[in-house]
Amino acid sequence: MRRPVIAANWKMNKKIEEAQAFLDEFIPLVWNEREVDIVIAPPFTALYTMANLLRITNIGLAAQDLFYEDKGAYTGEISPVMLTDIGCSYVIIGHSERRIYFGETDEIVNKKFRAARRHGLEVIFCIGESLSEREAGMTFDVLKRQISEGIRDISSDGLIIAYEPVWAIGTGKTATPDQAQEAHESIRKTLSHLYGEPAKGVRILYGGSVTPENADVLMACPDVDGALVGGASLKADSFAGIVKYNKQ
Ligand code: PGA
Repeated sequence: MRRPVIAANWKMNKKIEEAQAFLDEFIPLVWNEREVDIVIAPPFTALYTMANLLRITNIGLAAQDLFYEDKGAYTGEISPVMLTDIGCSYVIIGHSERRIYFGETDEIVNKKFRAARRHGLEVIFCIGESLSEREAGMTFDVLKRQISEGIRDISSDGLIIAYEPVWAIGTGKTATPDQAQEAHESIRKTLSHLYGEPAKGVRILYGGSVTPENADVLMACPDVDGALVGGASLKADSFAGIVKYNKQ
């Protein structure tokens, strides 16, 4: 059995005070949730405060990115050493917004992945095709390339992949359960070529306009093992609604 992961990606939203207010409301809503791993990725500026507030809760803390060197003359960057230092245990790597707006290539993503692993951070590794790639029938080739380049020299232990079709992110256009299952199945097939049997243990999350309303049908897909949630994770009641999707 793969334990589901429901992760919030706050992107460039929330000041410290707003993050605190979110937790005041959110923690009581999910404190007794034992069946899923809950993770929140606030912006860097709120990480330290959040680390202290989450210490004795069932909620894990993630950074939204890192740089692959441990220290040095890299103005503006944050290293894995700094993230573990403040009590961060997860990091999101390869989000499509990083790839599109900040020029991250598969090679950079892989360097970041290896750096995170060196320091014991759990990685939520994002992949996904654009609308034009989907329309050109290239979805599975794109996913295969992103996986094989991105996880080069990475073991399958604790691997978490987030499939986020770019056309579904922040657009309100969720992939249908069939589209999600089809993509997740192809991802698991690629993983089983690379890793063999252990591919069955890899958790594959879906991301792209997940809401409390569509979480049940998406989570019911056999190869969907969780969700990476942007917009709908910004409000405590709506993110809690996703965490508490129907587990029957
Ligand atoms: P969304 O974002 O839920 O707002 O579509 C998801 C993501 O980018 O991780």
